[in-house]
Parts: sequence; structure tokens; C-alpha cells
Amino acid sequence: MKKQQVAHCQFSVWYPLFKQHTIKSSILPLPKNVIDYLLDDGTLVVPESDYIAQQTNADEDFEWSDDETTTTVTAPEFPDFTAKVLKAVHLLGGCVFPKLNWSAPKDANWIALNSSLQCQNLSEIFLLFKSSDFITHDLTQPFLHCNDQDSPDPVINFELVLRKWSELIPGGEFRCFVKENKLIAISQRDYTQYYPHILKQEESIIHAIQDFFSQHIQYRFLDDDFVLDVYRDSQGRVWLIDLNPFGKVTDPLLFTWAELASGGGISQTQDGPIFRYTTSDVTVQPSPCLSYRIPRDFVDLSTGEDANKLVDFLKLQKSQQEDDEDESAE
Ligand SMILES: Nc1ncnc2c1ncn2[C@@H]1O[C@H](COP(=O)(O)OP(=O)(O)O)[C@@H](O)[C@H]1O
Ligand SMILES: [Mg+2]
Repeated sequence: MKKQQVAHCQFSVWYPLFKQHTIKSSILPLPKNVIDYLLDDGTLVVPESDYIAQQTNADEDFEWSDDETTTTVTAPEFPDFTAKVLKAVHLLGGCVFPKLNWSAPKDANWIALNSSLQCQNLSEIFLLFKSSDFITHDLTQPFLHCNDQDSPDPVINFELVLRKWSELIPGGEFRCFVKENKLIAISQRDYTQYYPHILKQEESIIHAIQDFFSQHIQYRFLDDDFVLDVYRDSQGRVWLIDLNPFGKVTDPLLFTWAELASGGGISQTQDGPIFRYTTSDVTVQPSPCLSYRIPRDFVDLSTGEDANKLVDFLKLQKSQQEDDEDESAE
């Protein structure tokens, strides 16, 4: 995998090529101060302007105080960018799925009030982004695992991608591996579950995806090796969901990269792609994002009335700790 291949998989590169076959989206350049804010570990505080509209009276800036000093944590405000985001969200129907150049904050959905990546404003997007290792990866090491480390990094302009929210049924999602512009392998994307309809419709799924690929994708992308994620809706129509680099940064799901990279072993004996999916006799596996989660108590708190509850909880814990320390000092 070369740096240039990774650069080609940025949303703003592939979206114009395949616009008719994917979910309607909007791309906003990320201002430098927003990037700095997203990378700053010290402030898991979302700007309050978005909350003000939702609250009867705006809370004062909260304060972390100890005996000697008082520090006020003030969230930064980005009025111009906030306005652009709200406008784009509105044009996309009011609910969006956010991502950066390559990744969505899938590892952070536990922190969202609705435990989902569905967002309506910039505060919700920031909360997810600031909690996500996948987002940090995009911002700090997009060319990890590339085998041309000596060549200069392609210039990257960071972008906020807002996609119209769409209820995708996980059993309809498939990852397709393309090598030398041939579709060599297809994997069920959510391999942790057994979906009986996949077993029943195996042939028609392969055909639908193969047709979609040869009619709309093949030879139209900037590279010959890539991975595409598709969705087959209830009418059998196939949609493009995402494009990913052909290499280690992309999860090979029910395949291994050794198998896929050698290609031959997988494709030569066959006319069509190899299709792998989870069958009933396979032990269903835990969700791959589980390890990113936090203890249940926190989740309960964060799904309460608002995210400030979590802050209150942490404040409460801090004051309890101080009480304990005082007691033991006595
Ligand atoms: N517009 C959308 N609305 C709702 N869910 C979406 C949308 N786009 C993607 N998803 C869900 O999020 C998952 C990850 O999306 P994707 O764009 O592939 O991000 P990543 O590249 O970080 O994996 C998809 O498998 C799908 O289940
Ligand atoms: Mg992807």
C-alpha cells in the first residue's frame, strides 16, 4: 500500500466520481483552529452555543476548583464553522453521519447521548470526534503501514464529511476486495452476527454486487487495488458506502491480508469473487468496537439527560475523593 493509494481513498476524492451511487453528503474544509481543538487532549468540553438552544437557562462555565486556585475551562467557539455545519445538516435533512477524510468515529458511539453516530449539531460531532481513536488516526498518522515511508507525504486538507443519516441494516453491508481491477473477494461486513437471509440469497447477493462493480466502479477509480464497502437495500439495489485502501489499515474481516494480497489463491480457480459470511455454526463473536468502551456506569450516565451529567459525575467523584483524603488526614 502506497501513500498515494491512501490519499486516493479520501472522501473528497472518490465522492465526485461515484456521487450517483452513494449517500448524499456534504464536505466542509476543517479550519486550522478546529483541527487544533480536536487534537487538544486537555479539553473534552464542547462549545456551549449549541447547548444553549436546548437548555432553559445556560449554565455558567463550570469550574474545577481546589483550595488555592480556580481554573475556568472555557470551551472554544467557532461561530462561522458552526453556522456552515448547521446549514449543511439542514440541507441533508436534519440528521447526519459524520466522518473525516477516511474514518468515522465508530469507536466512540458509547459516549453519544443516543449511543449512535447520528448527529444534529456540531457539539454532538465534536463529542464523538474528541472521543475517537479512529479520528485521531486520520489527523495524526494517515499513512501508517504504507510501504513507501521514504517518499514525502501527499498534502492533506482535512475535511468534515457530513452524510445524510440512513438507517442501514447491518446484514445488508458487504466489503469487497478489488485487486488489479478485479473483484476477488466479498465479506459480510458485520461478521459478528449470523444473518439467515445471506445464506438463502447467496447467489443473488454475489450477482448484484458483481453487476454493480462492473457497471459503475471498475476502471473508474484512480487505483487498481482498493476495497469498497457496499450496501444492498431491501429492493436489492446496491449502493456504495465507502472506499478504503487495499492494505493493512483496512480490516480484512473474514479474510486475511496474506490471502488477499496473494490474490491468486483466492481468485484464479474461480470466475467470480469468493464470498464469505458467517454461518450458524460459527460462534458469534463480540463486537470489534467493544474494547473501546468504558464501564457500564459511565454509559448510563452519558445516556442520561445530557453530557453535562458526566462532568457532574466526575466533579462529584473528585469532591468525594477529597473528603476521603481529609478524613484520612484527620
Ligand atoms: N449515512 C449513514 N447513515 C447511517 N449510518 C451510516 C452511514 N454511513 C455509514 N454508516 C454506518 O457506519 C459504518 C461505518 O461507515 P464508514 O463510512 O465505512 O466509516 P469507516 O470508514 O470509518 O468504517 C457503516 O458500515 C454503516 O453501518
Ligand atoms: Mg472506511
